[in-house]
Amino acid sequence: MSAPTPHPSTEGRTPYPVGLLLAGRRVVVVGGGQVAQRRLPALIDSGADLHLISPATTPAVQAMADAGELTWHARPYQDGDLAGAWYVLVSSDDPAVNAAVSAEAERERVFCSRSDDASAATAWTPASGRDAGATVAVLTGDPRHSAALRDAIVGGLRDGSLATRSYRSHGAGVALVGGGPGDPDLITVRGRRLLADADVVVADRLAPRELLAELPEHVEVIDASKIPYGRQMAQEAINRALIEHAQAGKFVVRLKGGDPYVFGRGGEELLACAEAGIPVTVVPGISSSISVPETAGIPVTHRGLTQEFTVVSGHVGPDDPRSVTNWQAVAGMSGTLVLLMAVDKIGAIAAKLVEHGRPADTPVAIVQEGTTAAQRRVDATLGTVATVVEAEAVKPPAVIVVGDVVNVLAAAFRR
Ligand SMILES: C[S@@+](CC[C@H](N)C(=O)[O-])C[C@H]1O[C@@H](n2cnc3c(N)ncnc32)[C@H](O)[C@@H]1O
Repeated sequence: MSAPTPHPSTEGRTPYPVGLLLAGRRVVVVGGGQVAQRRLPALIDSGADLHLISPATTPAVQAMADAGELTWHARPYQDGDLAGAWYVLVSSDDPAVNAAVSAEAERERVFCSRSDDASAATAWTPASGRDAGATVAVLTGDPRHSAALRDAIVGGLRDGSLATRSYRSHGAGVALVGGGPGDPDLITVRGRRLLADADVVVADRLAPRELLAELPEHVEVIDASKIPYGRQMAQEAINRALIEHAQAGKFVVRLKGGDPYVFGRGGEELLACAEAGIPVTVVPGISSSISVPETAGIPVTHRGLTQEFTVVSGHVGPDDPRSVTNWQAVAGMSGTLVLLMAVDKIGAIAAKLVEHGRPADTPVAIVQEGTTAAQRRVDATLGTVATVVEAEAVKPPAVIVVGDVVNVLAAAFRR
């Protein structure tokens, strides 16, 4: 048998992909060697009425004939063999025979795949594989490239590293998924898998937007930040949306920025769903409180420098009656202080910390839109931070880090 030649480049003759339903339809294979041996199993699986025309076959092909999986005509090809055929595969080692079959196929308008000369073919066989009911077929114009891509895709499907929408693998319910700090690569593998299975996604403003762009068209995306009403009403509306969609049989992913349980109201949503009898899965996320400083070159702990880090919300100021933070105690700690939602109130917070004993020259770093392309870091001290934030027009979202860790990696992390 002659070695198969590579497919010519698809340039200028883009193949049109199609899945042929061949069950019960006459398919003719000319040549019973190695190529036929490789291609026949898929044709047998298709249920085609398979006719092999070849004076000789490999033992494996003979076994297929013996098993009744195809009809073997043990003779050379002759004109007229394609009568009534829907598809023909040419794989003999005689170029003249192959050309004659091609000519008849052209005349009879039967799509013809040629293993010896792809440029003379009217159909190209893709590199194909199957996993869990899916057929993967790859045509690149280069058989090796096609096979490598096919192997990567089928392998990825099998080992789960390639996230797919596995239909109905999830019953109705809710998953509270931490989306990480903003870079779409920083969601967990589990979070990404569940997202790929979602019927409905209720997304936060800080959830990675790029992940939403990847969702299939039929997935309903609800932008939680656009839900009207005040803060509390909005949360009730979100809870209601989660519950109602789950009750309607949908698998709902609540995609949050960072981690669902770090100032993310994940607990409230879990309780609301539990009360309505909705099953909930919680998928941790990488919290901005640690990762945003990290991507700006700040470790929240460093041996010999700090033995603690404290994460505090600054959404209400220290003198606000709604504040439940013991700012005196926070000021008395020597370790790292990480402030979230604190841009607006940083002046009052810094003043309170200094008032209760934290030195005014304590280093401060503000990291805005961390892990995204727009990330920026602004440095100050507790004494200067209010002025610097205003002068530099720092805007939320930002993580503010207070403590000596701010400069500990400065030598290695100049920006
Ligand atoms: C409502 S809290 C949610 C925190 C989130 N659950 C987490 O674990 O990161 C929102 C605050 O997180 C911080 N934040 C979240 N993503 C950020 C980012 N990419 N860059 C800077 N700060 C961020 C900001 O302080 C923002 O105001």
